Amino acid sequence: IQWYPGHMNKARNQLEEKLNLIDVVIEVLDARIPSASRNPMISELVGDKPHLIILNKTDLADPVMTKLWQKKLQGPRTLVMAMEAQHNTNMQALITLIKKAASEKVKKLEERGASNPIIRVCLVGVPNCGKSTIINRLVGRNVTMTGDRPGVTKGQAWLKAPYGIQILDTPGILWPKFEDQDVGYKLAAFGAIKDTIFHADDVALFVIRQLRQYYPAYLAKFANCTKDKLENIGDTDLLLAMTQNNGMRDDYDRFSLFMLQRLRKGKLGRISLDRPSANNEN
Ligand code: GTP
Repeated sequence: IQWYPGHMNKARNQLEEKLNLIDVVIEVLDARIPSASRNPMISELVGDKPHLIILNKTDLADPVMTKLWQKKLQGPRTLVMAMEAQHNTNMQALITLIKKAASEKVKKLEERGASNPIIRVCLVGVPNCGKSTIINRLVGRNVTMTGDRPGVTKGQAWLKAPYGIQILDTPGILWPKFEDQDVGYKLAAFGAIKDTIFHADDVALFVIRQLRQYYPAYLAKFANCTKDKLENIGDTDLLLAMTQNNGMRDDYDRFSLFMLQRLRKGKLGRISLDRPSANNEN
């Protein structure tokens, strides 16, 4: 599948241009899919600049996986922080980390006599991973639109945060094409790409397969059946049974969207669909 809207292409070029003004690149990942929501392009663009990774939406992610990912992504020039931006109003820990990441530059400027030098940061990440929410928290007021659909952030501006931190508000960037269809399904499952890119029932079937493998108890609970029964029913039959049980007759699409909405809100359980051991991250 090829999917690369024009404004994202533009965003990449704009970001590339402005990157030499940036001291710390903050890459926001969806903690439920840290690998799928990572843009390989970012590491390439970041080069050897200080790099901060935020695993966001940890309230919805599997806490065990979040811990493993935190360890895995940590690197000599990469600091990692897990957070739930929507609920966490205390941004002090993030500010401390930004200052730590920028400490080399700050030290240099202070040696040259500057007091409170400005630290310029930018947030990057796929749509809907929580960039605007984090920016609002950092700035202390609502400066950008947030919404639970991809592509809400479109403009670009410098915003002032405390402690001399200035933030470049950038739109999310997604890679030009998914070489791996599962990556696309994972992004679709958690709302990082529009629901119209894939058929909802294909995404729902993908999710069912994943839940069977990693979270069978959650799937059984959602399907309102025993684990035994789950083992003896195929994915498509299960989807049909769930559709009918929910009074939607054979409207797979409608039920699939309903299921995906429940998944995204964490109503199926705290679920992560990327395992650090199965991916070659960092
Ligand atoms: P684009 O503008 O599409 O690029 O999105 P964005 O990355 O700026 O994401 P945004 O901040 O708009 O957040 C997307 C949705 O996720 C919103 O409905 C937020 O309220 C929600 N959200 C953000 N952070 C969290 C979090 O930590 N936990 C939960 N549960 N929801 C979050």
